Amino acid sequence: MKNKLLISALVLTILVSCTSDKSNSDTDIVVPPVIPPVINITSLKQASIPFGVACSPSPLKTDALYRETIINHTSSLTAENCFKPARISLGRKQYFWDDCDYMVNFAIQNNLRLHGHTLNWYSASGVPTWVSNFVGTKEEWILIMKEYIQDVVGRYKGKIKSWDVVNEPFETTGVLRNSIWKQNIGDEYIDLAFQFAHEADPEAILFINEFGTEYSIPKRTALLNLSNRLVASNIPINGIGLQFHTSISRSEIDIRTTIHTMASTKLKIHISELDVEINPSNVKPFVITDALLLSQKRIYSYVTKVMLEIPKNQQFGITTWGISDAVSWKKNDPDFPLLFDLAYKPKPAYYGMIDSFNQK
Ligand code: XIL
Repeated sequence: MKNKLLISALVLTILVSCTSDKSNSDTDIVVPPVIPPVINITSLKQASIPFGVACSPSPLKTDALYRETIINHTSSLTAENCFKPARISLGRKQYFWDDCDYMVNFAIQNNLRLHGHTLNWYSASGVPTWVSNFVGTKEEWILIMKEYIQDVVGRYKGKIKSWDVVNEPFETTGVLRNSIWKQNIGDEYIDLAFQFAHEADPEAILFINEFGTEYSIPKRTALLNLSNRLVASNIPINGIGLQFHTSISRSEIDIRTTIHTMASTKLKIHISELDVEINPSNVKPFVITDALLLSQKRIYSYVTKVMLEIPKNQQFGITTWGISDAVSWKKNDPDFPLLFDLAYKPKPAYYGMIDSFNQK
């Protein structure tokens, strides 16, 4: 013990004598230089904001290039279709889980965060046939909504990190859509959906998700007001998903205003379905040019840059709606809106995002 103390004192003396500036007096304090953190990522998997893509079980099982590109470049996944209510819910309390189970296991095995999309949606994929034929009182409608949400969220409790609870609640005019749920339950269907999801998994991060907020000011305002009202009413909402199905002809300043406006709620922000069309007028035949790819790169890098401007704890993620142009839902327009090309090679837009993360 005594020896140890002596050695420590000796080491301290040597250190002090080595670090003191010879030209100054012994009392000068040496301040260590501030070393800036090394920011030099080469894959979006390393990005400081989780980068994700929408994907589906079938190509994950059969297409090695699709699967490996996803594993190598992402840290988060959203199921493109298989978690939609019309896919899961075959009848009251009758469910098809195979695809969802596959996605959950794939995400766990590859250490990827999984975002559930979506629990409540007005569209045909969101409303199972038996629900569109359902006749019942308001209380019965609340019950079938609760049963569904809690069965799905409960099954994957602790395994699915976050959920889009309500998808696309607003018209472009900012009016609440007259969905089957609003018709039968009233406007409070949204509040109830969040409460039911939270009861089933109190740790899950719960989102409202919407498209078109970058170009429709009434919709943006409506989403802002709804989010603020939910927070003020202690409804367990944690974040806002901004889909951003956008194009090279949209205004960058609108993108910036939308992200900052929504971040004013203090909720997390997920750029949840990003894709950037280069052929928004669906011209046929269409020729991809370098200029178009550079415009696309500009938008992707700009969205990333603006996301880095908001507080760290609100930067939930940036998810593109598919991994490559080969599987984009826009591919037959024709369009090429994603970060990887038809051959799964990274496009200029990919490096545009990398540059933004590297603050270049
Ligand atoms: C799309 C899928 O990408 C398509 O494969 C499917 O045919 C239709 O739905 N907003 C959403 C997503 O919230 O669920 C939609 O996904 C795209 C628009």
